[in-house]
Amino acid sequence: MNIEHEIVPARPEEAPQIVEYLNQLAREAEYVCIDDKGGFWLTPEQEAEVIRETKANGNGVILIVKDKPTDDILGSGTAFSRGRRAAHVFDIGVSVASRAQRRGIGRELLEALKDEAQKLGAEKLWLEVCAPNEAAIRLYEKAGFKQEGRAIKAFRTKQGDLIDEILMGYFYQ
Ligand SMILES: CC(C)(COP(=O)(O)OP(=O)(O)OC[C@H]1O[C@@H](n2cnc3c(N)ncnc32)[C@H](O)[C@@H]1OP(=O)(O)O)[C@@H](O)C(=O)NCCC(=O)NCCS
Repeated sequence: MNIEHEIVPARPEEAPQIVEYLNQLAREAEYVCIDDKGGFWLTPEQEAEVIRETKANGNGVILIVKDKPTDDILGSGTAFSRGRRAAHVFDIGVSVASRAQRRGIGRELLEALKDEAQKLGAEKLWLEVCAPNEAAIRLYEKAGFKQEGRAIKAFRTKQGDLIDEILMGYFYQ
């Protein structure tokens, strides 16, 4: 079923909803970073500050996917410049709520992030993805990302196992 949605830049006043979404994602997704308590590590106030600073500094973009009828957050994507001599490289990340997955939203979000990062001067996009996270690896490969290496035992799962991460990069043509 199609979900009516829009992809828009996050606003500071949406921080509480965004943090709630990211806490839910932390609970349901296997391969995302979580804090010691199993949730997202920023408070709504801190998230609002990150949104404000990112806009003011022009060094990144935070996008959210909103369900049109309800305004619920269905996904989020970030791209941040690494700064200084690596300022041309933007670290990115995307997520889609499990109830909205496999409908093309991740792909659309990734394309929107690519466009926004390029406007901010990105020449390369970069990410680390857990080796067993096939859904994400396929999504990135379909979007033109290439595997550049592997970081051994770089991520601890919720069960406490250490797993590898795949390093992936994308160059604008
Ligand atoms: C990875 C993720 C963002 C994909 O979002 P999505 O909206 O479901 O992806 P899309 O529907 O746009 O799928 C795009 C392509 O990705 C691949 N893909 C997505 N989900 C997949 C799955 N469960 N298994 C295999 N391939 C999958 C497919 O190639 C798909 O293309 P297709 O539908 O033509 O086969 C989503 O699964 C997610 O948020 N996971 C949890 C968070 C996470 O792991 N983020 C990445 C951290 S690096």
